[in-house]
Amino acid sequence: MEAAGAVVVVTGAGVSAESGVPTFRGAGGLWRSFRAEDLATPGAFGRDPRLVWEWYDWRRQGLATARPNAAHDALARLERAHAGSFLLVTQNVDGLHAAAGSRKLVEVHGSIWQVRCTACGRERYERAVPLATLPPTCPACGGLERPGVVWFGEALPAVALEAAFGAARACELMLVVGTSAVVYPIAYLPRVARENGARVIEVNPEETPLTPLADESIRGRAAEVLPSLLGF
Ligand code: APR
Repeated sequence: MEAAGAVVVVTGAGVSAESGVPTFRGAGGLWRSFRAEDLATPGAFGRDPRLVWEWYDWRRQGLATARPNAAHDALARLERAHAGSFLLVTQNVDGLHAAAGSRKLVEVHGSIWQVRCTACGRERYERAVPLATLPPTCPACGGLERPGVVWFGEALPAVALEAAFGAARACELMLVVGTSAVVYPIAYLPRVARENGARVIEVNPEETPLTPLADESIRGRAAEVLPSLLGF
């Protein structure tokens, strides 16, 4: 891949597929067996916080043994080796990019390892698997805690959004890896980059709504394509 100035990488669930993490909409995807509206919305949590937490606890248990794969590693190396500005924008809440050593990283949908008190707003990192109590309560005020992720119908954190869109407007190269490109506002990022003159490269075993817009769309799995594409 020829050197570029400012680089932005956007990733989705597909980048973690080869770490054994189910995607959402692909074969065996979470939304094939679970209804998002019953588990990943503020309304669902209001109706039955225990049911929602049982699901997130189950997902955490699955993720606890997951390890970064060659795609995560290649992107962490690219960040370290790249002289120009670099930002990795991930929709994933699994923490695998950070575990691979990525630091110039924005987890726009939050992290499954974070919890937030619905009463006092206190956030904390919680790695216990399984959780000691369901639903967990705030050690400071005893309030009900919720998963530190962004649910359907919720706004993304303003700071994360501004960082992602600011970088997309200024980048010369955007890599889009392992996302179905159907969830907004993140699915706008490649369009913003393109409109500002950047080159967009997609990596996905399947076509997506982004494919016709991308300068190059590489059919393949992230852990196989990225090491050779990036030279790491
Ligand atoms: N390498 C690269 N891409 C892959 C791989 C792989 N090994 N395996 C699957 N994919 C691709 C699929 O073809 C699909 O296009 O990854 C994409 C995964 O799409 P989704 O399951 O829709 O996940 P994502 O795009 O991350 O979803 C966006 O939606 O459900 C919400 O908040 C959740 O962050 C998530 C958001």
